[in-house]
Amino acid sequence: MLNAKYKKQLKDELKRLDSVKTAKRHEKVIEGFTSDGAPKAKIGKKEYGIFNSNDYLGLRHNKKIKTAEHKASDKFGTGPGAVRFISGTMKPYVELENEIAKFHGKQAGMVVSSAFAANLATISSLLSPQSKDSKVEGSVVVISDALNHRSIIDGVRVASLKNPESKQIYQHMDYEDLDRVLDENSKKFDRAVVITDGVFSMIGEYADVKALRRVVDKYQSKYTLGVMLIVDDSHGVAAFGKTGRGCEEVSNGKSDVLVGTFGKGFGADGGYVVADKVVIDYLREAGATYIYSNSFAPGTAGAALESVRLVNSDKGQKLVQKSRENIEYFKTGALKAGFKFVCDSQHPIQALLIADPVKCGNLTAELFKKGFLVTNISYPIVPKGMDEIRVQISAAHTKEDIDEFVNALISSWK
Ligand SMILES: Cc1ncc(COP(=O)(O)O)c(C=O)c1O
Repeated sequence: MLNAKYKKQLKDELKRLDSVKTAKRHEKVIEGFTSDGAPKAKIGKKEYGIFNSNDYLGLRHNKKIKTAEHKASDKFGTGPGAVRFISGTMKPYVELENEIAKFHGKQAGMVVSSAFAANLATISSLLSPQSKDSKVEGSVVVISDALNHRSIIDGVRVASLKNPESKQIYQHMDYEDLDRVLDENSKKFDRAVVITDGVFSMIGEYADVKALRRVVDKYQSKYTLGVMLIVDDSHGVAAFGKTGRGCEEVSNGKSDVLVGTFGKGFGADGGYVVADKVVIDYLREAGATYIYSNSFAPGTAGAALESVRLVNSDKGQKLVQKSRENIEYFKTGALKAGFKFVCDSQHPIQALLIADPVKCGNLTAELFKKGFLVTNISYPIVPKGMDEIRVQISAAHTKEDIDEFVNALISSWK
C-alpha cells in the first residue's frame, strides 16, 4: 500500500500545480470529430474549431492513409509482438525506413516508437560508447542550443557523460556563440556533436541549417574525430519548406543526422532518424529505445508509409502549398486586427504576443466558449512578459474557418 506520508506529498504537489495554474492533467476529452470540411473536435455537446494541433497538413483523417493503416494491421496484426531483432522485422517498417530516408535524401533510416525515443537512442548512442569493448573511442563534447526540446536534453542526460565540461550550451540560435564554444573546446576534445531543434515549437522560429553547417564545417579539421550536426526537425517535416522537407529545405543546408516524427505533419505516429548507413547500422546496435522497446504498431507503419508517399505526390504538394497560403491569410487577418506576433514565422505555428499571463488565460477561455481550441503559453515555458497564444494553422482549414477564428479573436480580446 502507498505510504500515507508519501501519498500526502503527491496530493500537495498536485494542489500546488493547480494553484500556480501550470497543471496539465485536466485534459479535454474529445469524443469524436465532425466529418465534413475541416474536422472539428466534439467535446460534450459542442463542436470546436481546432487551432492547436500539429496535424499541419490535415492528414490524420485522410481516407487513403486510414485504409493503408487497416490493410497493414489486417495483414500483420495490431501489435509488433516483440522488438524487431528478436521477432523479425515486418515489411512495412523496412519500406517506411527506405521511403523516409529517400524523402530526406539520406542513405538510410530507422524508425522507433516516437521522436522522443528517437532522440534518446540517437543522442545517447552518438555520445557514449555502449560497452567497455567498444571500438568507438575518444572524448566528446556535446553543444546544444539553449532552448532545445526536452527529448534532446534527456538524450544528453541518458548519455551520462562523466566530464561536466563535455556538456556545453550556445545561446539560442546564436551561431557566433556556437563558433566560440567550438573554438574553446577544440583542443580539449577529440569530437564535437552540435544539436538543435529544427523548428522551435513555442514560437515557430527555425534553425538556419546552412549557417550551422558553415560553422560546424569550419571546425571539422580542428577536432581529430570531426564535428557532427544533429537536427531534430519534428515540427518542420511535412509542414515547412517548398516541398515539406522542413528546415533543411528552407535554409538550404544539410544535417548529418536528422530526427523527425510521423506524429505531427505526417498525421500518423512514431519517430525516425535518417543519416548515413553506417550511422543507422550503429544505432540499431546501440540505441536502447530501438533495441529494448517495441516499435509502433504495423498498422501505424502502413499509415506513415502511405503518408510519406502522399506528401511526395502532387496531391500532397498541393496541401503544402495550401498550408503556406493559409498561414499568410491568417497572418494578414490577425495583423489587420491589431494583433502582434512573437516573431515573423513562416511556419504553421503562429504565436500571438499577449504579454500578460492572466489576459492570455482569459483569451483562451473566451475562445473556448466561442468554440475554438488554442493553447496559451506563459512563464516558465516562455520568458516573463512573453505570454502568448499559440495558434497552429492547418492546410485543412478553409478561408472561412480562418475568418471565423480571427473574428472570434477580435471579439474575445474586446
Ligand atoms: C523538437 C521535438 N522533438 C520531439 C518531439 C516529440 O515527438 P513525438 O511525439 O514523436 O515523441 C517534439 C514534440 O513535441 C518536438 O517538438
